[in-house]
Amino acid sequence: MSYATAGWPGWLLGAVAVTALSVSELPGHGFSPATASAAPASTAAASPRGQGPLIVAHRGASGHAPENTLAAADAAAELDTAWVETDVQRTRDGELILLHDTTLNRTTDVEEVFPDRAPWRVSDFTLAEIDRLDAGSWFGPDFAGEGVPTLAEFLDRLSANDQRLLLELKSPDDYPGIEEEILAELGERGWLDEWYPGQRLVLQSFDAASVRTVHELAPRVETGFLGTPPVAEIADYAEFADQINPRHADLTAAYVESVQAVRGPHGRPLKVYTWTVNDGALATRVAELGVDGIISDVPEVVRAALAS
Ligand code: G3P
Ligand code: CA
Repeated sequence: MSYATAGWPGWLLGAVAVTALSVSELPGHGFSPATASAAPASTAAASPRGQGPLIVAHRGASGHAPENTLAAADAAAELDTAWVETDVQRTRDGELILLHDTTLNRTTDVEEVFPDRAPWRVSDFTLAEIDRLDAGSWFGPDFAGEGVPTLAEFLDRLSANDQRLLLELKSPDDYPGIEEEILAELGERGWLDEWYPGQRLVLQSFDAASVRTVHELAPRVETGFLGTPPVAEIADYAEFADQINPRHADLTAAYVESVQAVRGPHGRPLKVYTWTVNDGALATRVAELGVDGIISDVPEVVRAALAS
């Protein structure tokens, strides 16, 4: 057992039958059966077929607030969107922070604060240095001073907002061992104490090896692969991924059906979440293709389209 998994409950480390568990018997659980079954009214905790796709706020509600900030999580909450997607990376001193790009210059004022540190890679900066950056002003003056959050801060904000997390491991190849560190952080903050896999947390990546590592370290955690593997390879991905999540432009009804025909590591049909859908007509189209989830910067636009 690794240092990161040493404190985890034994049930998490094995493929224990969920029906045999009682959450009230688990140590340190922060997610009761009551809250587990009580998703916010306008969203669903899962995506049962026939109820329409689950809507996920991409990088938070990033059409309304600077991406991957606490403000973006709050903006999603204000739009009654329970599920939030975000991207995690690691600083030079080993702290987990949220940023989409592997460099800091697009979404912060790092070029002004640290003009001599090009190309401003996340992995070249300590957390203390990143804490000096403004990650909000580029989006709008209302967000001046918004910081780059740590994963811990973001998790706590989602918990306070009663939100759920689709967490992308961004460029995990650049950060050896980040899978264990992320799982340790999630475990410490109660995010692995789920009632059933995928109800509150999904980990995804474009990097299949990283997704497989997450699955091997924490078999109960729901996982997703970002991309469009050939249909002939879907069964291989289903050994470690519960979701296959393609760009919307790559979708066809036949592809969605082929993915959903395969069962994943938890014995359930694979799901398909597609991204990034910011247009009502497009949302309607991908819903008609049968996707299980729609990832959007403007979740209210998707919701309105699906409602109509
Ligand atoms: O969740 C899907 C989406 O986030 C993947 O693309 O580039 O926005 O991280 P990207
Ligand atoms: Ca992402």
